[in-house]
Amino acid sequence: MTPPHPPDSALLPNQRHLFDIPDEVAFLNCAYMSPLPKVSIAAGVQGLGRKAQPWSIAPGDFFSGSETVRARFAALINARPDDVAFAPAVSYGMAQAAANIALTKTQTIITLAEQFPSNVYPWMDLAERTGARFVSVLRPGDDDWTAAVLDLIDSATGVVALPHCHWTDGGLIDLEAVGKACRRVGAVLCVDGTQSVGAFPFDVQRIDPDYLAVASYKWLLGPYSFGFLYVAPRRQGGRPIEHNWIARRASEDFAGLVNYRHEFHEGARRFDVGERSNFALMPVADASLKLISDWTVPRLLATLTRRTEEIATRARAELRIESVPSARRAGHYLGLRFPGGIPTHLPGRLAAENVHVSVRGAAMRVTPHLWTTDADVERLFAVLRSTLA
Ligand SMILES: Cc1ncc(COP(=O)(O)O)c(C=O)c1O
Repeated sequence: MTPPHPPDSALLPNQRHLFDIPDEVAFLNCAYMSPLPKVSIAAGVQGLGRKAQPWSIAPGDFFSGSETVRARFAALINARPDDVAFAPAVSYGMAQAAANIALTKTQTIITLAEQFPSNVYPWMDLAERTGARFVSVLRPGDDDWTAAVLDLIDSATGVVALPHCHWTDGGLIDLEAVGKACRRVGAVLCVDGTQSVGAFPFDVQRIDPDYLAVASYKWLLGPYSFGFLYVAPRRQGGRPIEHNWIARRASEDFAGLVNYRHEFHEGARRFDVGERSNFALMPVADASLKLISDWTVPRLLATLTRRTEEIATRARAELRIESVPSARRAGHYLGLRFPGGIPTHLPGRLAAENVHVSVRGAAMRVTPHLWTTDADVERLFAVLRSTLA
């Protein structure tokens, strides 16, 4: 699980200079939407500009940018580039998964209570279409989601659709253990990594999910309407939900596109969203993924863990505000639990002071990143103290 006390040598220095965040803004809300790094904005401006001069866009450019980014994301999750498809939203990735899973009436689909809707609605729909039973794991009183999920997996389980950590409060699920249980009973494991991949390690070789969908606009520091779908090799023979020209073999030969092909490009590419080449957003994703790979996810996690631990410890000691215990929480993610609930006027007070957090379910998410300074945290506590006094 997440080490709560990483050594100083493992930490990264503050990187606020890489972002366009005014001093007076305390943006503790990466779980909502990350700011784009300046270098990614510059890459995007250049990418958008290419469309001003379309004669400069050659057929090879439809492939080169996306293959670089495919490889970058693959490296982040220890996959092969062939195992990654482009999916502009988690809902799109999960639609690809759900379209390729056959269930019967006697089977179940397992999700978590209060899970993010894009990893719930596709499964409710599959349950409706097949007669399978949709099961929502109740929130455990001790925050041990892993035990609660493992308890429900049995020979009737057809699909287990989970995040790596709960989007409301960072509650962690041991996906390696869940993956093993899924393989034991032949269930399909579908993971939404949007609130973890980029800040919390994900290794497809160890977890072995069937599908992993990740939206890029949070912890990947990437653009909106952009993301990825990892598809396990055993699932790569499936039928995509749409049929676009570039996914078929020999699509590099534009003149030859009139010769329709039955075969797809290798691996997961058949699941690529149409117009995946995206000359404006692809360079943005590329620049952001490069930053993350330079920092490395273990060092990022160690740094963010130090920050969230400090906030959690102070909140408990100074204000009696609780959170998921460190051993059961993803280190980069914090949800504060106020005794008696979140005071109704608190979100407004925070916003008025330019302290940005978000309320989801019963928790107030505080999700800092490398742009977060000690002064940001002091501003948060100043508002909390004055509101709760
Ligand atoms: C856990 C999680 N998954 C996915 C998303 C975004 O879903 P989509 O890409 O389908 O809009 C969010 C956004 O808040 C999220 O928190």
